Amino acid sequence: MDRFGQATAIVTGAASGIGREIALVLARQGARVLAVDRNGEGLGAVCAQAQGTMRPCVAELTAQDAPATVFAACREAFGAPLSILVNNAGLGNARAAHDTSDADFDRYMDLNLRITFRMSRDALPQFGPEGGAIVNIASIFGLVGFPRSAPYAAAKAALGGLTRQMAADYGPRGVRVNAVAPGLIATPATAERIAASPLFQQGLIRATPLGRAGTPADVADAVAFLCSREAAFISGQTLAVDGGWSTTHFVPES
Ligand SMILES: NC(=O)c1ccc[n+]([C@@H]2O[C@H](COP(=O)([O-])OP(=O)(O)OC[C@H]3O[C@@H](n4cnc5c(N)ncnc54)[C@H](O)[C@@H]3O)[C@@H](O)[C@H]2O)c1
Repeated sequence: MDRFGQATAIVTGAASGIGREIALVLARQGARVLAVDRNGEGLGAVCAQAQGTMRPCVAELTAQDAPATVFAACREAFGAPLSILVNNAGLGNARAAHDTSDADFDRYMDLNLRITFRMSRDALPQFGPEGGAIVNIASIFGLVGFPRSAPYAAAKAALGGLTRQMAADYGPRGVRVNAVAPGLIATPATAERIAASPLFQQGLIRATPLGRAGTPADVADAVAFLCSREAAFISGQTLAVDGGWSTTHFVPES
């Protein structure tokens, strides 16, 4: 499928889970993808699996020089302006406010908000005259309260504001900025918690009208749509991909 016609894309956190699937879907649909992650081994595996053009870029995104390193690698790999940036790298946690030190708070802000802000800001000069698309991976915990996720939820909620403000500022240059807020998705990051946590079973899976955890492909397909021409008039939105969880107070019939 040539949905993206050789467009140049960067996907962060592409070695695992949701980011891995986003990178694979964009490559399969005709984009040239720079897959970015600090896990070089995982990147090697995903690049080997890609049916299409994918190149690895090993980077720790919290490093000050990470955006410059990533954009230089992208220019070197593909020699074309950037069209798509997917800010997916991030890290969940299970901490209430009383368990969160200043250092923990800073860490979750860095991992879930600051790296997305810096990558998005520094991407702006990389887009060509036609503009491009940015998609930020937020979370349903940034939309709806849930126990024990204070710093993570605060950072993911802030992504909604960043998405709206950047859509306003850079729409006139043809840059669309949207976010996807996944519900509970079965990935390496969540597998243990899904299996072990009654809170996850009851509070997320059973409370989802569609009756299951999501898959990385559920999220990747929504991201690909937001990056595509079919979403040409959509900007500033946060799209929940959560089986209906965030829009209901669903209680299954027993
Ligand atoms: N899985 C879920 O249920 C779920 C739900 C809502 C939101 N999300 C969000 O989706 C995104 C992906 O989650 P996942 O479940 O696929 O996680 P994952 O742990 O399976 O994959 C995350 C990848 O990002 C990379 N990464 C993280 N921080 C990095 C950094 N600073 N520099 C470089 N690489 C970094 C990791 O090495 C890893 O390969 C995250 O932003 C997460 O908050 C996940």
